[in-house]
Amino acid sequence: MITTERAAANSRATTFVGGRSGHMLVLSHATLVGEPIARVEAVNMTAGISPTLPVDASWALHGVATNDRYTTRPEKTELVAKQAPIGRPEATHAALILLRKRAEWWSFTQDERRAILEEDSHHIAIGMRYLPAVARRLLHCRDLDEEAPFDFIGYLDYAPESEAAFDDMLAQLRATKEWSFIDREIDIRLTKADPAQIVLSHLADHHAGG
Ligand code: HEM
Repeated sequence: MITTERAAANSRATTFVGGRSGHMLVLSHATLVGEPIARVEAVNMTAGISPTLPVDASWALHGVATNDRYTTRPEKTELVAKQAPIGRPEATHAALILLRKRAEWWSFTQDERRAILEEDSHHIAIGMRYLPAVARRLLHCRDLDEEAPFDFIGYLDYAPESEAAFDDMLAQLRATKEWSFIDREIDIRLTKADPAQIVLSHLADHHAGG
């Protein structure tokens, strides 16, 4: 665990805290492969690395945005032209996807990994088709903390009407050779909708249901 003030101030870092309160409410939580983590009611996303876990929290996960390792210049030019930033007002839904890859993946050389990720699995080409409806933030955890439970944290947001397309993209990615190297995957869906509205809609449902 990195707890120095310098690490806490790392502007490339993002921390996700799962607990009983937070600005995003959990809609669903699925463990696809490997060990589960505690189910929580809400998730908070904050900049930097929080050295201490809030009292009502079950877990805190952090990662850093880093330089691209696989993307070619033409791919990067296309990505930059198409992609939207996370946090658009209409993107009220998000997915927090926690991933770890097997030791075999990490034993490959950079060119072997690139060949699996793109030439074989078309990860970038598949993802590109869903821009700008889906915005993404990819965080790396592996080199930050030896004890990190995941290698990557993917955080992606989109408007509710794009959720079916998002699921379609995930189904394609999960069927690839790249994904055969994943030995831990947890998919948590979130909504950033105003909690007051959610309470009101629950009340309305309750009322409608008698
Ligand atoms: C919005 C569509 C998506 C696009 C455009 C996209 C694009 C990319 C690109 C360009 C890279 C390579 C970064 C580099 O050069 O280092 C990458 C890597 C990665 N993406 Fe995606 N992606 C998308 C969706 C997803 C989704 C849905 C997930 C999670 C389920 C995901 C997880 C990852 C991971 C874990 C890596 C790192 C792979 C590694 O370093 O071994 N991506 N993505």
